[in-house]
Amino acid sequence: MRKYLAITILGTLMACAATTPKTTLDANEAKIDSLIRLMTLEEKVHMIHACSNFNSGGVSRLNIPELVMSDGPHGVRPEQNTNATKSEKENDYATYFPTGICLAATWDTSLAHQMGMVLGSEAKARGKDIILGPGVNIIRSPLNGRNFEYLSEDPFLNSELAVKYIQGVQCKGVSACVKHFAANNQEVNRDKVDVIVSERALREIYLPAFEASVKRGDVNTVMGAYNKVNGQYATHHAYLVNKVLKDEFGFKGILISDWSAVKHAKEALLNGTDIEMGTDLSQKKPDYNAFYMADSAIQFVKSGEVDEKVIDEKVRRILRIMLKTKLSGNNIQGEINTKEHQQIARKVAEEGIVLLKNENILPIESKKYRKILVVGNNAVYKQSMGGGSSQVKALYEVTILEGIKDVAGQATQIEFVEGYKPTKDLSFDKALAQNAVNAASKADLVIFVGGWIHNFDMSVWGGTAFDMEGQDKSDLKLKYGQEDLIKQISEVNPHTIVVLIGGSNVEMKSWINQVPAVLMAWYPGMEGGHALANILFGNINPSGKLPMTFADTHLLYPSHSVGEFPGKDNVVHYNEGIYVGYRYFDKQNVETLFPFGFGLSYTTFKLSDLKVTKEGENVVAQCKVQNTGSREGAEVVQFYVASKGSSIDRPVKELKGFQKVFLKQNEIANVKVVMDKRAFEYYDEQSKSWTLEPCSYEIQVGNSSQNIELKQSIKL
Ligand code: BGC
Repeated sequence: MRKYLAITILGTLMACAATTPKTTLDANEAKIDSLIRLMTLEEKVHMIHACSNFNSGGVSRLNIPELVMSDGPHGVRPEQNTNATKSEKENDYATYFPTGICLAATWDTSLAHQMGMVLGSEAKARGKDIILGPGVNIIRSPLNGRNFEYLSEDPFLNSELAVKYIQGVQCKGVSACVKHFAANNQEVNRDKVDVIVSERALREIYLPAFEASVKRGDVNTVMGAYNKVNGQYATHHAYLVNKVLKDEFGFKGILISDWSAVKHAKEALLNGTDIEMGTDLSQKKPDYNAFYMADSAIQFVKSGEVDEKVIDEKVRRILRIMLKTKLSGNNIQGEINTKEHQQIARKVAEEGIVLLKNENILPIESKKYRKILVVGNNAVYKQSMGGGSSQVKALYEVTILEGIKDVAGQATQIEFVEGYKPTKDLSFDKALAQNAVNAASKADLVIFVGGWIHNFDMSVWGGTAFDMEGQDKSDLKLKYGQEDLIKQISEVNPHTIVVLIGGSNVEMKSWINQVPAVLMAWYPGMEGGHALANILFGNINPSGKLPMTFADTHLLYPSHSVGEFPGKDNVVHYNEGIYVGYRYFDKQNVETLFPFGFGLSYTTFKLSDLKVTKEGENVVAQCKVQNTGSREGAEVVQFYVASKGSSIDRPVKELKGFQKVFLKQNEIANVKVVMDKRAFEYYDEQSKSWTLEPCSYEIQVGNSSQNIELKQSIKL
């Protein structure tokens, strides 16, 4: 299979710069102090707010440059700066990766690192200092319009991928910006909503990816969220920013506000916001001095209401990151739109697409199915410029139809009919549907490509785009008549494969038993068409696993059945507490369609020989995995921890380790994960600390949260 060859080649091409030595960092602190002493108050304040829509201020007198930012998270965004040159605006194409949720579905941390390196390199080539990603907000409800940008419902999977992504970006001399801190789990009312959430849920579910990004990823910047958390705006939150992020996690970098997230001058100054961006002053030509942390900050210091040291601390953080990156004197050169970058984008899609159902039809045997009909607007729809701030101007985007045509081989006849198309009122076109059903009855096999779309151009979609910033879905029902269309097509042609595009699942119960195969392709990026076709025709063996539970309707998810979404009167109660995603479905025994961690392969694997031992404070779990099927492929071995006989309310089990293993036919590999103390602890709200309860813990190993094959207990 081509994939294995590709991995080796890529491995030798991309190099990662070493991290800054401690001695240099210490020397930098001294430089920073002397620079700050040279600065006037006005110059300092100029550095802590925007000076254009994506830059924050510099001090030319002292050769301190502006900080240049760009979205993020799955490609460098087309040029947004109003002062960009014509050539910068024309040459703003970039590699368009599969979106966050597809990366998460790979469960491949080395791929997250490679994707980060490409993003860092491309940001560098485009003259950016910070790329605004990764997005690590927990997938709390399947309706969140930005789930496609985020990673998972599970904090551990989130953390592992975020750390590698960040390290990849930052080894290219560019800062990552982990966002949105914190509990930004819906788009409706995102700038007003007050999230009422328990401290335990914050610590165990919503904060771990930020904690890991700081402590292990050494992330340079964090973006504060729009929403309030327990009564205060997250971007200037005394507890979240000052105490937790900066004091406890030890974050030494820059807390950047989300665009227009600062709502109060003094709170922002005192509660940890370091750079204020995007404040909407509703003026054609923004007056940056009117930002909350601009002229009013100068006044507060002059009147003695705010100590100048508060401003110094923000400037210190900014200079610290500049000296670590753009002023470090390193000579890292960026590269953009290379073949190698595009191959990594393809690899993410090939590993992230999830095979949900396959009853003896995939991979497609070209000899058996000569006439293939592709149905559905999503087979030809280009997604790269959709979704909001994460849009990317892709150099090219291989659609699903193009991918299928390229990969199928000349002997196969590929025909396309649209079947349905997006409409403003969500209605469907009878004639298009009928045409598709007629064509399907004459084909040997049908590939239906549907699901969600996202598009930023509201004038085209009139608010009917899904998976996009600023809005959430109302439910998980397929739109534009797709559900009926799948049913009708599969009635006339039993060889109907359904491919879904989107940042979440759709309701499938009414048709899933009628079709032999279903794949979740997410938003698979610029090489998505090739990746999907490679899976359909068997050049690539699928290995993606769901990073979120697929239940049949949104009403089954805890955010809707126990908690609230999107809340009332600008308040949303996270009543479900720590029971998010599979933690809830497991605990309440609620049936799901496809569980967290699930995904099929064209081969089979066997897990055996679990050994669990204590090594100091750590627990080490090891087992064997063998490819027992007829072709090479990859398995994600998942390690869950289940506390037994605990007196505390705890989830049935929690993911605490995983490893993706690539195996040839019959090959066996040893898998080893090391779980530290935290893997067994819970957050005790009384003592306000992580606590280990002495009891028995079962290590459960499987290839989904519902398919546990090995178990062993250990007493701690
Ligand atoms: C989004 C951020 C983004 C910023 C800049 C905001 O609306 O929430 O994720 O980075 O805009 O485009």
